[in-house]
Amino acid sequence: MLDSYLEHLEIITDKELINPIDVFKIFWHAEWTKNRRVEDVENMMKNTGIVVLIKYKKKPIAFARAITDFVFRAYIEDVIVLPKHQKHGIGTLLVETLENILKLSGVNRIELTTNKVYFWQSLGYNIKNNTEHLIKNL
Ligand SMILES: CC(C)(COP(=O)(O)OP(=O)(O)OC[C@H]1O[C@@H](n2cnc3c(N)ncnc32)[C@H](O)[C@@H]1OP(=O)(O)O)[C@@H](O)C(=O)NCCC(=O)NCCS
Repeated sequence: MLDSYLEHLEIITDKELINPIDVFKIFWHAEWTKNRRVEDVENMMKNTGIVVLIKYKKKPIAFARAITDFVFRAYIEDVIVLPKHQKHGIGTLLVETLENILKLSGVNRIELTTNKVYFWQSLGYNIKNNTEHLIKNL
């Protein structure tokens, strides 16, 4: 990432400092989150273990979260960088921020589902080939 880009970035992990409306607006940019209701996003923020919002020049540009027990396991969800800011290392920054918080808690395994395997592999994630990842959409 260019230093000039980095100097305008703010990484926020304190829920009290994140306006759910900013997250709601970032959700407009991904297929699986774009129809979420603002009141549901507010509740999601309250009930999610770890959240990360990144701002660029004071404007929200990226979000990610982890659902976790803070002891053994974590699931990363909703990793989204606004299209204009993609491929600058922001996605990596989101995930590394979540990972650092999880590591401090002692969590030793992170799981997720994705259709962007190349992105996750570049961050050291491996495809599980001896188990099947099962999902039921409710
Ligand atoms: C996937 C996503 C989060 C990546 O964010 P990003 O800020 O562009 O990612 P980075 O710039 O940190 O890139 C990390 C690595 O992934 C690679 N990568 C990112 N997007 C890529 C693409 N479209 N094609 C190929 N490689 C890509 C980068 O080249 C980089 O690898 P490198 O370090 O070897 O160069 C972003 O594209 C996005 O928000 N997409 C829409 C929502 C989505 O699908 N989220 C994923 C949910 S699982």
